[in-house]
Amino acid sequence: MLEADARERVIVALDCDRARALELADALSGHAAWLKVGMTLFYAEGPTIVRELRERGFKVFLDLKLHDIPHQVHGAARAAALTGADLITIHGLGAGAMMAAAREGVEEAAEGGERARVIAVTVLTSMDQQALSDIGVELPVADEADRLARLARENGIDGVVCSPHEAARMRELLGEDALVVTPGVRPAGAALGDQSRVATPAEALAHGASHIVVGRPITGADDPVAACDAIVAELVRDA
Ligand code: C5P
Repeated sequence: MLEADARERVIVALDCDRARALELADALSGHAAWLKVGMTLFYAEGPTIVRELRERGFKVFLDLKLHDIPHQVHGAARAAALTGADLITIHGLGAGAMMAAAREGVEEAAEGGERARVIAVTVLTSMDQQALSDIGVELPVADEADRLARLARENGIDGVVCSPHEAARMRELLGEDALVVTPGVRPAGAALGDQSRVATPAEALAHGASHIVVGRPITGADDPVAACDAIVAELVRDA
């Protein structure tokens, strides 16, 4: 894979405060193309943080996992896209009308220009069969994930966020144009932290991921730029 293509596939998760996020962004400029802003950073700093990262030339994945009545999600998706975010998340469990509303919201924000992409969380990777059963879902986890992914596709959603271990199945189900974004990625030898079922960056892409989300192996490294470059180099070599 070419280096420029490899850089486009890596999304660096900034799970930190604003000062550290901007410090990392300045350091990673030219080394990473995408940054992920999650709920903690967004609820603390608001849309400004997305704009600040966009101004530094990054694409932003705004991971707010929207889940509410369609009217609210329409407005929230529109507002999220208006911050300049390039990719946003919703919960598949909000069902078809909610997902269609998210798609309409980002289209409205784009006013005919290039719209933000929307991907769906199927079953949270923190949930196991017992947790699904506790909320009244008796389908096996994998079948529930398939069902929500299909529903997402039918309602104009661009792809899913899932574990690298589900990526092959999601790619098969959603087709080659879908976004399949996988966290739970660890370069060989890196600390696992609280991630348990992990894959290396090249394995994740081999399984069908379009993008990988990597946080602490980059942001917690002594040299985040070198850590990011090493992941890109791995993709250039092995993907
Ligand atoms: O630091 P680490 O590489 O584990 O960060 C992964 C990022 O992906 C975090 O922002 C985390 O919230 C997110 N994520 C995840 N597992 C999921 C969904 C999102 O680790 N199933």
